[in-house]
Amino acid sequence: MSKNSYYVTTPIYYVNDVPHIGHAYSTIIADMLARYKRLSGYDVLFLTGTDEHGQKVEKAARERGRTPQQHCDLMVGPFKDLWEKLDISYDDFIRTTQERHIMVVQAIFQKLFDRGDIYKGFYEGWYCIHEETFYPESQLAEGCCPECGRPVEWLREESYYFRSSKYQDQLLQYIKDNPGFIKPDFRRNEVVSFIEGGVQDISVSRTTFKWGIPVPFDPDHVIYVWFDALINYLTGVGFLQDEEKTAKFWPADIHIIGKDIVRFHCVIWPMMLLSLGLPLPKQVLAHGFWMLGGAKMSKSTGVVVDPNRLIEEFGADSVRYFLLREIAVGLDGEFTQDALIRRLNGDLANDLGNLIHRTVAMMMKYFDGDIPEAGGLGPLEVSLKEEALGLQQVVDESINKTDIREALVQVWRVIGRANKYIDEAAPWALAREGQSEKLKTVMRTLLETIRVIAVLISPVMPETAEKIWDQLGQANFTSVTIEDSKRWDMLAPGTSVKKAAPLFPRIELKIGES
Ligand code: MSP
Repeated sequence: MSKNSYYVTTPIYYVNDVPHIGHAYSTIIADMLARYKRLSGYDVLFLTGTDEHGQKVEKAARERGRTPQQHCDLMVGPFKDLWEKLDISYDDFIRTTQERHIMVVQAIFQKLFDRGDIYKGFYEGWYCIHEETFYPESQLAEGCCPECGRPVEWLREESYYFRSSKYQDQLLQYIKDNPGFIKPDFRRNEVVSFIEGGVQDISVSRTTFKWGIPVPFDPDHVIYVWFDALINYLTGVGFLQDEEKTAKFWPADIHIIGKDIVRFHCVIWPMMLLSLGLPLPKQVLAHGFWMLGGAKMSKSTGVVVDPNRLIEEFGADSVRYFLLREIAVGLDGEFTQDALIRRLNGDLANDLGNLIHRTVAMMMKYFDGDIPEAGGLGPLEVSLKEEALGLQQVVDESINKTDIREALVQVWRVIGRANKYIDEAAPWALAREGQSEKLKTVMRTLLETIRVIAVLISPVMPETAEKIWDQLGQANFTSVTIEDSKRWDMLAPGTSVKKAAPLFPRIELKIGES
């Protein structure tokens, strides 16, 4: 029987500059979901990539004395490097300058033209080069771009239009019928009011620059960068290239995006799909922004945190954990290094690290590391075992609601419970009193709990989970499945725990640093 499929995407990133923590955030959320679904037995397609066309890229290349293609080829490197350092397990990396994508975009443009949903007209309006967007006069901020504050230009050009207005009612109905489509709920409400306010046809071609995919039947025009970019989700799934793959993975299960690109994903993209007669993605999840000193972190303002530096200093897993644990997915959060260090010292070094460190140290001391069999469980053991074995279901519910933070809170609840159990069961007293059967039961209960925890943190902290697995003396981490977190007494007989360096050394907090 074929496995259930799961298709998750990140936005494709502009190559006008190097990635920052905000981009890492979109990608880490997607990676966590991809890993969790793989662990749960799904056949996963996880797509990320780069958005390489448009005036902004053309301009960035010109300023650096490169051709746009040379510029893109160079700028893809830092994204791929960062994803490698962050252990991002993408299955495919799409670049919008790839032949496969150009073919799909042109075919779709032609198809919508043939069916009368794309037509030729004129466009006049205020245009911000930086945002690649036209704005109505009423939306300008003191005559400048409402997004980035840069001056806007008045442009008049011949342009092809996409008949979005035609799909307004159909899309509204879809959003109302499918409450899970746009998350969080407050974003859905915003989208509904926006559509109810009336959707204009959108301009989908440009003649004022060249760096884009040519309109197949009118090469003076290049296709609007957002029309081009959104289609990446279909190119990546083999649309018009591999029917079987498309049938398997489309519609996408989830598009992860930031709140700034909600309208593109929740209005324009679904309308394009309705026009194509394709099913809509099951969910679009819009996360909030990481702020720095109260301002949105952004490449263009230079207010950024370089994820490479954080990874070097604190490790990829700590960064992944912090970003997913610190804020609820839809909300904004202020990024400070102090907060990261606090999480590292508290949740990682103190709670998780200590649980493992204490358990392994006692195992070495009392049993030379050899994992014992448990005897009869007392009430304390039964209660911890129940909590540990019930954890997967709670985590699953949270993840399916895309409440990743809550999933982590629940795992840490059991970590806290296990630490408390050590104090309550007092293995040192049992050792002193020569109660060796009881001592075996206590240690085995702790080890099994740690094993369950290792499985459940692996989507968020893959490297740490593997290290814990190794310390537990277990092999074949790659064949672990979610089922292993629902079973007890799984530690292989005759195996021994290994002593290792602490997983998370404490970091000293320097006052005033952020
Ligand atoms: N190229 C478009 C997306 C096309 S998808 C078909 C784009 N690229 S981007 O590089 O500017 O941004 C990519 C993602 O990073 C967006 O989801 C955006 O919300 C996210 N972030 C950019 N800055 C951010 C923060 N400061 N914090 C969190 N995420 C933010 O938009």
